[in-house]
Amino acid sequence: MNPLLSRIIGGPSALFVALAIVASHPTGSPAADAPTPKRPYDEIVPAAKIPLSEVSDEDLAYYFAIRWFSNRDYFRANRWFGIQTFQNPLDVWITQEIIYEVEPEVIIETGTYNGGSALLWASILQQIDRDGLILTVDIEDRTRKASQHRLWKRRVKFFHGSSTDPAIVRQLEPLIEGKRVLVILDSLHTPEHVQAELEIYSKFIPVGSYVIVQDTGIVKPFKAPNTGTEGIEAFLAATDEFEVDRSRERFRLTNNPGGYLKRVK
Ligand SMILES: C[S@@+](CC[C@H](N)C(=O)[O-])C[C@H]1O[C@@H](n2cnc3c(N)ncnc32)[C@H](O)[C@@H]1O
Repeated sequence: MNPLLSRIIGGPSALFVALAIVASHPTGSPAADAPTPKRPYDEIVPAAKIPLSEVSDEDLAYYFAIRWFSNRDYFRANRWFGIQTFQNPLDVWITQEIIYEVEPEVIIETGTYNGGSALLWASILQQIDRDGLILTVDIEDRTRKASQHRLWKRRVKFFHGSSTDPAIVRQLEPLIEGKRVLVILDSLHTPEHVQAELEIYSKFIPVGSYVIVQDTGIVKPFKAPNTGTEGIEAFLAATDEFEVDRSRERFRLTNNPGGYLKRVK
């Protein structure tokens, strides 16, 4: 085993406790009127056991991602307004920034699951567009609890069926005609399905807006097998209208590496 990896896996809590210490006490605890001393991280976080200067951002995110994925409780316990949702909070932050910038009138989400993520997008969108709608599609209807929510009743419309079924797309079309649309793909993550979804839903995206392909992997070097990445590559090979916006991966820890696709033409 890589000695760096074994050291990190041997003491990840020490490392992250140390990071928390740095985050919560960025200036140490000097006397009230003393100037803030400039100290290298290695000096102020000896509990990390390894000098942080030896660990790149990418390695740090990579090892954390391994831990994140090997302990599913990290994200399975996530709730939005009481509804389980499988979102990486760092990607939620980025998506919030995109929603704020793009100001969509409609967000299409494929892959509703329990409806927690539809409620999440709705709670952001309602601050931006008073009439904004979330159209969410799933082959299974598990929305009983989420649909009781006031916000769901006002903002969310659920469509029961496959995201690639022409009959479902026909139901969506009248609701998005002439609207500024953003699309979030979080249904079946196989390359074929993602490519098919991209070919269908990219048509509805105006220049400047995005289609976000979720769960392409986790952090850049860690590519989960059988994800949408090949579907994205095949889609991009046939168009110059979309580009991968890598600036949206600035936290390093993303479930959507290569998945933030911006319409540029
Ligand atoms: C990862 S979950 C979605 C998680 C949800 N967006 C959240 O953040 O909580 C994937 C969902 O895709 C649905 N699904 C699978 N194949 C589908 C298809 N062809 N069309 C629409 N939804 C599909 C599954 O039933 C499942 O609920």
